Amino acid sequence: MTPRSTQLDRHADLLDRAGRYLAGGGLGLFVLPPDVNLVIAEGRGSHVTDASGRDLIDYHLGSGPALLGHAHPEIVEAVQRQVAKGSTYYFLNEPVIRLSERLVEAIPCADQVHFTGSGTEATFFALRLARGATGRQKILKFEGGWHGMHDYALWGTVPSQPSPYPDAAPDSLGIPDALRGQVLVAPLNDAARAAALIDRHAHELAAVIVEPLERVLVPVPGFLETLREATRRHGIVLIFDEVVTGFRIAWGGAQERYGVVPDLATYGKAMSGGFPMAAIAGRADVMRHLDARRVDRAHLVWASGTLNGNPVSAIAGLTALEILARPGAFEHLHRIGGRLRREIAAIGARHGFAVQTPGEDAVFGVRFTDRRPLRTWEDLLTADKDLNLRWSVELIRRGILTNPNEKFYLSLAHSDADVDRTLEACDAAFAAIRR
Ligand SMILES: Cc1ncc(COP(=O)(O)O)c(C=O)c1O
Repeated sequence: MTPRSTQLDRHADLLDRAGRYLAGGGLGLFVLPPDVNLVIAEGRGSHVTDASGRDLIDYHLGSGPALLGHAHPEIVEAVQRQVAKGSTYYFLNEPVIRLSERLVEAIPCADQVHFTGSGTEATFFALRLARGATGRQKILKFEGGWHGMHDYALWGTVPSQPSPYPDAAPDSLGIPDALRGQVLVAPLNDAARAAALIDRHAHELAAVIVEPLERVLVPVPGFLETLREATRRHGIVLIFDEVVTGFRIAWGGAQERYGVVPDLATYGKAMSGGFPMAAIAGRADVMRHLDARRVDRAHLVWASGTLNGNPVSAIAGLTALEILARPGAFEHLHRIGGRLRREIAAIGARHGFAVQTPGEDAVFGVRFTDRRPLRTWEDLLTADKDLNLRWSVELIRRGILTNPNEKFYLSLAHSDADVDRTLEACDAAFAAIRR
């Protein structure tokens, strides 16, 4: 066995090299604070081990994809079998055909699917498809809604104050000025306001895109129904971004859970069993604009990609869906996640904190705020992010891995023993920040 001091040196060395050679020292927007930053060496079930040999219970799960836990033996085996036969072909292959069939069976709005490489590509192409299908240009999204990193998604995603609706600021530097006014933004969960905006801009709106569970905000009764009615009235494409909710909050995702069926929906994360793949699912009359056999070049929407339909990702997704379809999967997520949500809020209250755990049992947030109910991005702005960061850092020190101020993701691999250990750590972390 490698001595512990050598492992710690190696871990420190890897972090040092990450800081030097990776832009921003990390892989994207989210980088853990330096004192708890870590390099993951291995993931197994609900746990990860870092390069220093430290074990942590993982509630980030690769930002959601590892819904079955890490390195599920059936997925490992299926992927190994496929990869030995080649990892990418571009042309049709059996795993991707079987996965498309499975998705169409499971997803309420789906007559057909189209594969992409990432959730960002899925929403980007879904919006292009909506423009192609309607001949209109603009889109409406909701404040706080996260649809990936492309130029149409990054408006009003994480504003530090409410947006001047329907205008909003771009979230990132480098978004073309030419897009200003192309993306309208409205507050989530205000059905009357959204309907009025849709009516007013109907002649120029191609799509309304919404995360049906927006980060950790559940839709108020009637909100999604109103979007459905208003978009149908005007022939606007309603897109549910189910990259997070798909196959997680129910087998049929948000469409099943909340009982509203859009025209298109985007999938990613859990759908591909922890491998890179995403999809657009939708009604045949909208999807036909992707079909070069049926529409002429002038009516065709392009949405191609070298790795679309990758057989390794497809077999991983197919295996993940087989496992999720077994009896008890969603009950387990509800039971474990529900217990964590209730008890984290109760323990926080015992330590004198106003803590809420909004969301669904399989994916929820911890927010330090006394604003109730939490319905909009503006409501979430009342949460104390510094306190959350300090609490999350205390959790990581105690072997509980979360992404501060983001979400807790649950997996089929999380056990009651994991939850017991997590709640003890939560208790100690609340006590530490109280001091
Ligand atoms: C709801 C939602 N849509 C789209 C995306 C983008 O997916 P990806 O990171 O695969 O590009 C994300 C990513 O977190 C997401 O949460």
